[in-house]
Amino acid sequence: MPPIISLSQVSQFNDQEVQIRGWVRHRRSSGKIQFITLRDGSGEIQAVLSKSTLGPEQFESAAQLVQESSLSVTGRLRADARAPGGYELDVSQFNIFHIAETYPIQPKEHGVGFLMDHRHLWLRSSRQHAILKIRHEIVKACRDFFDDRDFVLIDTPIFTPNACEGTTTLFQTQYFEETAYLAQSGQLYGEAAAAAFGKVYCFGPTFRAEKSKTRRHLMEFWMVEPEVAFAELPDVMELAEAFLVTIVQRVLEKRQEELKVLERDVSKLEAIIPPFPRLTYQEAIECLQKCGSPIQHGGDFGAEDETMLSNEFQKPLIVHRYPSSIKAFYMEPDPQRPDLALCMDVLAPEGYGEIIGGGQRIHNYQVLVSRLKEHKLSEEAFRWYLDLRRYGSVPHAGFGMGIERAVAWICGLDHVRETIPFPRMLSRLYP
Ligand code: 4AD
Ligand code: MG
Repeated sequence: MPPIISLSQVSQFNDQEVQIRGWVRHRRSSGKIQFITLRDGSGEIQAVLSKSTLGPEQFESAAQLVQESSLSVTGRLRADARAPGGYELDVSQFNIFHIAETYPIQPKEHGVGFLMDHRHLWLRSSRQHAILKIRHEIVKACRDFFDDRDFVLIDTPIFTPNACEGTTTLFQTQYFEETAYLAQSGQLYGEAAAAAFGKVYCFGPTFRAEKSKTRRHLMEFWMVEPEVAFAELPDVMELAEAFLVTIVQRVLEKRQEELKVLERDVSKLEAIIPPFPRLTYQEAIECLQKCGSPIQHGGDFGAEDETMLSNEFQKPLIVHRYPSSIKAFYMEPDPQRPDLALCMDVLAPEGYGEIIGGGQRIHNYQVLVSRLKEHKLSEEAFRWYLDLRRYGSVPHAGFGMGIERAVAWICGLDHVRETIPFPRMLSRLYP
């Protein structure tokens, strides 16, 4: 029996008899020969079926192989410089698993709504392959970055008893007799783990019940969040800088083919080298006002402001020291200006806006208690979090990066909906 191989391995089997299993992308016939473009998820190949080799009966039965039908083919691999993957397969035998019904996704232009309704099938297209393989590469690069620096992976819970990022975007659910919320971030648990292990990260799904219908918002997204004991704001700015440079470099190194499918201008990615520009919130406001934004001091950046700001730079931009009033309760106040928070947002270039949020956390017990009060959060619910300020409290800092926004930027996509296999959006829970 010839070996069963995947299409990513063809170069190791030139001139050999192999078996390949996959799906029909396309079939055409020229009388005594049929050509089937076969994909198996790892690549594509043109399979050549000839009447003289297969005999008239087998040859005719191949005519039923409409798009997305599944089959296994056996044949000899032949290097051919003109073939898309560099090889063709001369088929000696094939077995049909399933003849597909008329496939709803055709090479013509479909509307986004239609494609999203068929997301389970749309995943088979080469563009979606390119995006999701880059996503995989980015996820792996994130893990490698922290693993290589001796961060300990800490998986944080999804059912939580309290808010992390503000009470207006919480998904509430029943947890037996109690009310629970889906995690908006793993950070608070990351802080507990940082006091236990020093340097940690969590990486998991997070949830925001945000009634936002922008090209940057999902209700469910994946976030990678490092947290470091004894670190202060400048330390995590540097960490975020090295982190972004590393993941962009990794994609450039390993995913050129996919970037080409997406027609990504890679020169924009090659420009992502340190140092990144750093602006205070105050400087960013001035920059925006100069660009014509109506934003006033004290206001939070809207999506348009972020786009405007990040369009001004060729590299990710670090904006730091926002007013505490527009940030989460746990932000450490700036000792020089207690109305400002020692926090940062990193805005991706090319108008992509915020991809990272983070900063230094309050480590003083009393300051945290009064912040909880100001934010009308229950001290009782945060008892465990306050404990971290009672037993060996130290300055500490961290950040979170949303994977989907990073993928959208690195792939050059105009919406996050294609960066995750099954997006959860304001008006979409299907499929
Ligand atoms: O700025 P955010 O809300 O920060 C936190 O959650 C902190 N607790 C993180 C930390 O310090 N450990 O979210 C961080 C990042 C954003 O910069 C963005 O990339 C992503 O998470 N994000 C979203 N991505 C997609 N859809 C949404 N609705 C998002 N909300 C945040
Ligand atoms: Mg943020």
